[in-house]
Amino acid sequence: MRNIILVGFMGTGKSVVGKLLAKKLNMDFVESDEMIETREKMPIKDIFEKKGEPYFRLVEKEVVKEASSRKNIVISAGGGAIADEDNLKNLKNSGIIICLKASPETILRRTKDLKTRPLLNIPDPKKKIGELLKKREAYYNKADFSVNTDDLSIEQAVERILLDISSVI
Ligand code: S3P
Repeated sequence: MRNIILVGFMGTGKSVVGKLLAKKLNMDFVESDEMIETREKMPIKDIFEKKGEPYFRLVEKEVVKEASSRKNIVISAGGGAIADEDNLKNLKNSGIIICLKASPETILRRTKDLKTRPLLNIPDPKKKIGELLKKREAYYNKADFSVNTDDLSIEQAVERILLDISSVI
């Protein structure tokens, strides 16, 4: 079976939905963020702080390539990963891409108490969410399917994805 790749903005539910999806399909689950943290031996926020975003994006590119070459896995790609032509190409070749979406309000609510996302750990995260969503919209729209998770439970989002991919796997 082709890999299933979850993309989408921070706070749209990629990790929780991806884990349950992988369990239901009896597939392994990998997260690009986790692969990066393992490689660099530090949390994402420290990588941003100590080495900067361009370095983070370089490592992200490498782990996306590595994950894309594996078989029979569900991949959760960090929110900015798809906004890069190499990553997009590698992920497209690897399987079916599902974009999880949510409104800026939902994203803000789901992310506001966590200090783990350096891009939103700023005085005006709402403005940043709007800017990044706009910048990345065209990339997110290159996914094979989109699921809006605003009003869905984790279970419901997984069911929706299973229904979508049933026509193509
Ligand atoms: C980022 C999203 C994060 C993580 C990093 C940058 C982004 O992943 O890769 O903080 O650029 O949107 P999640 O989408 O899993 O939070």
